[in-house]
Amino acid sequence: MARSSNVTRRGFITSVMAFAGSIMGVVVGLPIIGYLISPALNGAKTDAWVPVGKLDNYPPNVPTQFSFTRTKVNGWEKTVNSYSVYVLRGDGDKIKVLSTVCTHLGCRVSYSKDSDTYACPCHDARFSREGVVLSGPPPRPMDQYETKMDNGTLFIRVLAS
Ligand code: FES
Repeated sequence: MARSSNVTRRGFITSVMAFAGSIMGVVVGLPIIGYLISPALNGAKTDAWVPVGKLDNYPPNVPTQFSFTRTKVNGWEKTVNSYSVYVLRGDGDKIKVLSTVCTHLGCRVSYSKDSDTYACPCHDARFSREGVVLSGPPPRPMDQYETKMDNGTLFIRVLAS
């Protein structure tokens, strides 16, 4: 009786080993490839609501500074940005959160209780407590953040830059 197949034992084992090797390569290789390319596939995070604390922590009618950092991940690049804002709690539920970045050339402004104004040291600009330009070269009022309240906590909307 003649054999119907001409597959040798050695050829069969080689084929099985090649198949098993391919499966193992896929099982091990796909997660590695996924790990390596996933940061590039994840887009940079955009804007976010950032908690700036309980509203009760802010005294009424006195701009109070709050600082925080945010980490931006873009592919394999990680950037930590520092932010600083002034929270102005007015009468009732009136809330204004102003950026400390001067609208002229980006220096940091600081609030003075004595003059009740924000001063920019770079070109001697002054802003009112509400952020309106009083003097100096800034072309517009201080930038204002969008706000929302959640369970007594104040949040500001920070846009990706
Ligand atoms: S940067 Fe503030 S006045 Fe120029």
